[in-house]
Amino acid sequence: MSDLQLDSHGHLRHLLTLENLGGERIGALLDRAAALRAEFRAGAAMPPLLSGRTVINLFFEPSTRTRTSFELAARRLGALVVNFDIGSSSTSKGETLEDTLATLEAMDADAFVVRHKENGTPARLAAHARRAAILNAGDGNHAHPTQGLLDLLTLRDRKGRIDGLKVTICGDIKHSRVARSDIHGLAALGAGEIRLCGPASLLPGVGEFPQCRLFDDFDEALDNVDAVVMLRLQKERMDSLPDLDEAGYFERYGLSSARLSRATANALVMHPGPMNRGIEIAADVADGAQSAILDQVANGVFVRMAVLAELLRV
Ligand code: CP
Repeated sequence: MSDLQLDSHGHLRHLLTLENLGGERIGALLDRAAALRAEFRAGAAMPPLLSGRTVINLFFEPSTRTRTSFELAARRLGALVVNFDIGSSSTSKGETLEDTLATLEAMDADAFVVRHKENGTPARLAAHARRAAILNAGDGNHAHPTQGLLDLLTLRDRKGRIDGLKVTICGDIKHSRVARSDIHGLAALGAGEIRLCGPASLLPGVGEFPQCRLFDDFDEALDNVDAVVMLRLQKERMDSLPDLDEAGYFERYGLSSARLSRATANALVMHPGPMNRGIEIAADVADGAQSAILDQVANGVFVRMAVLAELLRV
């Protein structure tokens, strides 16, 4: 794990990646998210854990789920939230990210939620933060740790455990920060087998994930798995598009209900969103009984509450 993530007492100071975070710490975050969810769903007033604290969303890439759920999470726990408008900010006048951070920190911001196309930008800011916590909301293809946590929570809820589960991740793994955080989280919690499937040009580099099995054939990759995570083609990160057209891609790597029947009877269907229906996933599967996609979205709010509370030490 990046040393930047922990303070001198071993407490979580920033959340940059799930890599080497450890099963115990990950499990504790999931437990806290589940407890906050139980309170919320029981109709209890949420504890004002973040009252008087300020959370700033710094999104340099588009987002629907992550930005909104961080905002809801922070507001429901009583924080003041600022959605920093990059387009109208002084970053367009050449101000560095570090100076932007220092400027906003001087206004007593307690936490920054950062999404950026460049790998390592949240870590770069964490290295410069004087007091505030940095939360990685997705950097390049490096990490999306809160997405990894909400995926783990969803899987644990539905299957009762992560330990021993067989999980297939299919699609554009090469460009996916979600895949990387899922792999690190699943491995930390003892998943039995992690299978990665996609066109050769979209699989990770040789040796990047020695703990995973690589597949080209999606039917084989689905045999007897407990869950499948589908990923969209991240065309915005590709130098050239795969040889397959959309119909050809769906034929080989799309999740149809017929194909899903190769997995275990109650295999969970997951997708971090945004989905491209008819390309990587059929609409009837996305909306079907085995789909946990909207549960993932709902869990995102509680996971982000738990992470904010943990980092702000309340
Ligand atoms: N899963 C995810 O990160 O979605 P958004 O891009 O909408 O935040």
